[in-house]
Amino acid sequence: MKRLALSLLLTMTANAACAEDLKPMKDAGPYVPSPQSVVSDMLRYADVSKDDFLIDLGSGDGRIVLTAAKVFGARGFGVEIKEDLVKRANEAAQKEGVADRVKFMKADLFKTDISQASVITMYLLPDTVNLLKDKFLGELKPGTRIVSHDYPLTGWIPEKYVQMDLEDKVQISGVTTTLIYLYIVPAKVAGQWQVRMPPAVSKQPGTLTLKQQITRVDGSLVLDGKEFPLQEVKLRGENLSFRLAGRSGEYSGVVKGHEITGSNWSATLAQAKK
Ligand SMILES: C[S@@+](CC[C@H](N)C(=O)[O-])C[C@H]1O[C@@H](n2cnc3c(N)ncnc32)[C@H](O)[C@@H]1O
Repeated sequence: MKRLALSLLLTMTANAACAEDLKPMKDAGPYVPSPQSVVSDMLRYADVSKDDFLIDLGSGDGRIVLTAAKVFGARGFGVEIKEDLVKRANEAAQKEGVADRVKFMKADLFKTDISQASVITMYLLPDTVNLLKDKFLGELKPGTRIVSHDYPLTGWIPEKYVQMDLEDKVQISGVTTTLIYLYIVPAKVAGQWQVRMPPAVSKQPGTLTLKQQITRVDGSLVLDGKEFPLQEVKLRGENLSFRLAGRSGEYSGVVKGHEITGSNWSATLAQAKK
């Protein structure tokens, strides 16, 4: 139902395209503004603050980036293919006194460098959201929050997922259902790591093998010739934690590139999984 309504709108708006609009690699969806209450919820769930750099992919009239700057003190930019919307958003930034912190560019979101973001927001067609998964994993820093209005990144486990009914959505999607998904970009941990555990656990280096499917991680640790399957493995951005089967205690550490540092243990990447 929602897909049908959005596709219908897409056809209508495509016919009304203005000559100065950019021809993108792919049209990621028609201009349908997120209701202001959804904008506020998206930013709250992502815990946006003055330390954040937010990028809205397909920024429409700029409301998400403008609200992030005005209410939460963030910096950022929006990319949008429609000339009049880019102009309107930049004018609003001037008028609302946040033009020193945010800007809007006429650009194709698929070709935009998003590596600067600490928060990504989007309200795009479901297939587009999923086409962006490789870009997110390739360009975004571990720990970057991604907030998607209505459509999930399939195969990713959301950090938070909220469903609500909003009358405002009926004219947009034909139904009141509104969904907000929050994801956190995981560090890349797949491979073999040489581990130094606390001396009480082992005096010899061990081998930690991690298998990763986006946010899901499992594996095992070989210590003194004995293999311990990992249990309750959690990867949230750069923060990894696990337990060892048959042993007490939790191990947690921060992943920075080829090093994992915990309070009483550490690991160095010996061989990344290709
Ligand atoms: C559903 S609207 C969302 C607007 C705004 N983010 C919000 O939530 O209020 C999607 C926007 O993406 C823009 N868009 C579509 N394809 C795009 C592309 N390839 N690059 C940049 N913007 C695009 C559309 O013009 C439209 O304004």
